[in-house]
Amino acid sequence: MATLATTVDGLKLPNPFIIGSGPPGTNLNVITRAFREGWGAVIAKTISLDSSKVINVTPRYAKLMTNDGKEVVGWENIELISDRPFNIWLDEFKKCKDQFPDGVLIASIMEEYNRDAWSEIVGRCQDTGVDAFELNFSCPHGLPERKMGAAMGENAEIVEEVCGWVMSAAKIPVWAKMTPNVTRITDPSRGAFRAGAQGVSAINTIRSVMAVNLETLRPEPTVEGCTTPGGYSCKAVRPIALRMVMEIATMIRREFPGRTVSAIGGIESGTDAAQFILLGGDTTQVCTGVMKFGYDMVKRMCDELLAFMEKHKFETLEDFKGKSLDYFTTHAELVRMQKERKAKEKAAADEVAAKKMVKADSEWSGDDFVKQSEALARGTK
Ligand SMILES: Cc1cc2nc3c(=O)[nH]c(=O)nc-3n(C[C@H](O)[C@H](O)[C@H](O)COP(=O)(O)O)c2cc1C
Repeated sequence: MATLATTVDGLKLPNPFIIGSGPPGTNLNVITRAFREGWGAVIAKTISLDSSKVINVTPRYAKLMTNDGKEVVGWENIELISDRPFNIWLDEFKKCKDQFPDGVLIASIMEEYNRDAWSEIVGRCQDTGVDAFELNFSCPHGLPERKMGAAMGENAEIVEEVCGWVMSAAKIPVWAKMTPNVTRITDPSRGAFRAGAQGVSAINTIRSVMAVNLETLRPEPTVEGCTTPGGYSCKAVRPIALRMVMEIATMIRREFPGRTVSAIGGIESGTDAAQFILLGGDTTQVCTGVMKFGYDMVKRMCDELLAFMEKHKFETLEDFKGKSLDYFTTHAELVRMQKERKAKEKAAADEVAAKKMVKADSEWSGDDFVKQSEALARGTK
């Protein structure tokens, strides 16, 4: 019997489906709902020591629909990290671990570029019994104005330095969440691994402008007549996330064997998750998908992933993790392989043609007479 159970960085998960940091993990009420529905783990909404600096606006989401208006394919948000007080969060982490001692609860944390602040947030959160940390180096809007989030994640040296501060204070596994708004996602990921992080999560949202309203000429989502570039998520970002997870997993194989990657970006089904695992993902996170379909989608995703595994006779996630990484190469190598294949086919065709040539008069046939004549002839113009 195939199983979805997996152990990643010592964390025992019943399945690889994790609630990604955002609205689906924004308070105790929804976090416990996720555990009750069967999610493998929950990453809470990102928190910081001083929530009074976090002021959200409305509206803060904008959707991109298919032409028939029936499906959401892209989602932009200009939401900040949690605006709920840190002490309330500590209390809720404790309550959650009391209610679900086996549920894997991951605290997503973010702080300013200050070692004491990072050490304090790590120490106080881990005292509540949370199982792991995700470091938010990746929020692309609002927070970078305070030199937080993606402002740190864009700089591999800062990622390495801050991860180092966290690693010296953390007694539980640490994943660093990467921003896709960089040229090479492997640079900051390498920084996190060099500092000792057990894993990275990729990707956070892609910096975006959703649309411009052609009546009002105002960009969306419009707040008091203006907007600010936001973060793009949902299934439209999946191909970009797949590419980035593939690049990180390839680097892990070469430079950091044993480290992990938690894949995120547009995952809505078990077959989406299978693709990320084939490209090296250890776990798969869902954020916008939960906002579209609700918490019980995890059951469908588990069934779909199991069906994929049974079809291919894979018994564990490990059996197919990274299996498709071998099928990536350079463009020059694709050209060489294609040339080699065509040359082989031509040689085989020439051999068949040579065999068909009439070698003795007894081989002439009435039906193939013209073709046999042609095969023997060499023409000029
Ligand atoms: C409304 C919204 C709020 C989010 N807030 C956070 C956050 O607080 N911390 C974080 O690390 N990522 C946050 N994210 C990013 C998601 O966790 C995820 O990385 C991204 O949306 C891509 O995955 P998805 O397509 O499954 O949503 C947020 C995403 C959305 C849509």
